[in-house]
Amino acid sequence: MIDFKRKIADMLEQKIEGLTKEEILEMIEIPPNSQMGDFAFPCFKLAKIFRKAPQMIAQEIAESIRENDLFEKVENAAAYVNCFIDKAIFAKSVVEEVLTKGEKFGSSNIGEGKKVIVEFSSPNIAKPFHIGHIRSTVIGNAIYKIYDFLGYDTVTINHLGDYGTQFGKLIVAFKNWGDEKEVEENPIPTLLKLYIKLHEEVEKNPALEDESRMWFKKLEDGDEEAKRLWQWFREVSLKEFNRVYGMLNVKFDSYAGESFYSDKMPRVLTMMEEKNLLKESKGADIVDLEAYNMPPALIRKSDGSTLYITRDITAAIYRKENYDFYKNIYVVASQQNLHFAQWFKVIELMGYEWAKDCIHVPFGLVSLEDGTMSTRKGRVVFLEDVLKKAVEKTREIIEEKNAKLENIEEVAKQVGIGAVVFQELSNNRIKDYTFSWDRTLNFDGETGPYVQYTHARACSVLRKAQVKIDENVDYALLGNEDAMDLVRIIEQFPEIVEEAARKYEPSIVTRYIVNVAQAFNRFYHNSPIIVEDHKLQKVRLALVYASKETIKNGLGLLGIAAPEKM
Ligand code: ARG
Repeated sequence: MIDFKRKIADMLEQKIEGLTKEEILEMIEIPPNSQMGDFAFPCFKLAKIFRKAPQMIAQEIAESIRENDLFEKVENAAAYVNCFIDKAIFAKSVVEEVLTKGEKFGSSNIGEGKKVIVEFSSPNIAKPFHIGHIRSTVIGNAIYKIYDFLGYDTVTINHLGDYGTQFGKLIVAFKNWGDEKEVEENPIPTLLKLYIKLHEEVEKNPALEDESRMWFKKLEDGDEEAKRLWQWFREVSLKEFNRVYGMLNVKFDSYAGESFYSDKMPRVLTMMEEKNLLKESKGADIVDLEAYNMPPALIRKSDGSTLYITRDITAAIYRKENYDFYKNIYVVASQQNLHFAQWFKVIELMGYEWAKDCIHVPFGLVSLEDGTMSTRKGRVVFLEDVLKKAVEKTREIIEEKNAKLENIEEVAKQVGIGAVVFQELSNNRIKDYTFSWDRTLNFDGETGPYVQYTHARACSVLRKAQVKIDENVDYALLGNEDAMDLVRIIEQFPEIVEEAARKYEPSIVTRYIVNVAQAFNRFYHNSPIIVEDHKLQKVRLALVYASKETIKNGLGLLGIAAPEKM
């Protein structure tokens, strides 16, 4: 694809002394509407250098670059130079890029194979995979796919919450009230029930608390019975999680969770001691972070047991040694902002300059319409139920509207689950939101099903036309504004992907594909595709193809399928 921005920057560089090409590139804008050109260059900043009014400068620059085949016209409007790219050149460059790159359109190699770890999902064993975890899962999965698309060497890690004092509680609860068969048959709800029961019983009998602590200690010391039970809880839970991952089509390279680091912590504790970072406080070991306006990081409890934060520090050091990452990304709720800030600081204080490469990507809270969620009280929405309901509803809609569709079951899954994922990724990740069944199951407006439907419609046009799109396309025929708007939007895809990666913000891609779909539908309504004039038909089909491919690639980055019929 011709890099028009760079071409314009090349020309401007010749005309403007005092600005580097990079500075010029930064300044070139895409105007809010096409009446103002395809690219615009503001001249305000040049006033100082040239000691002239910016309007004058704009006029002079416009005159000096006007005579070039690349442009249809160049205008100056107030302090701006507005460049209108020749329509045929523009459309040809963009559409041919999509034609040659196909499913790789939008990708690049800016990552140069550098190692990027994306840690996401990380649910807790024996606890439900709830709607809060879906955020980490789908945002993390999209960030991984985006980095992968940009040529980074990605590793995905599920830092399972499979360790900690709660396992002592679970063991005690199971030994007192548990039933093996029930756990096998219905693992998570049963384990959750036991966990809740323990919390209730502790109120009456505080000794249970000590007993739980003792059992966790036993687990840490390698006691056979404790280990056997813990392993079993982990296994049955993982089986459940994998069902959900299967529905979402999410895979991990590693399931090294918290327990993976249990034997790696002593070494890290020693290192912290050697660096004189640990301070004693009421028998426990802490790292004082007062100088950084943070509460102390509790590293080791007075009974010698380690904590969540100890395992995070150990895991980061392990990852650096094992993967030598360029970036180590954590997709974890904003509730844990302080936790991450604290241990990033500890790593820095340990002298690791790579602390700056550890990145917490937070996202907002999910609450239920009647208040917040609480695992302890058992008030959660299970992700699996959400997905199943969405698939169910989609199947009903398809059966009503398109009962002859061949693989209804498969499409219902792709569209129903796609709808949930799409809506998750529609807003800025940091925004808190209230989970609503209505919104999740509403398929009108700017939703996943709308975008998928647009894609299927494009596929159907291409199927019906049965024209092979080759190099012989006359792009000058494309001409009309709807078509050119669509071309302009498609052209932005590679930059959109880069921006989403830079900001760790998949919603940039989501909103972008809604734009593509809307622009496509405007074009499709106003320009008949299957027309007598074969040349006109061909160029329009080429644009249909490019739109379809862009939508499909965009959906793919979000982890959403693009069925060809629906
Ligand atoms: N298991 C935790 C939870 O569900 C999330 C883990 C986040 N990752 C981490 N490295 N601390 O709240």
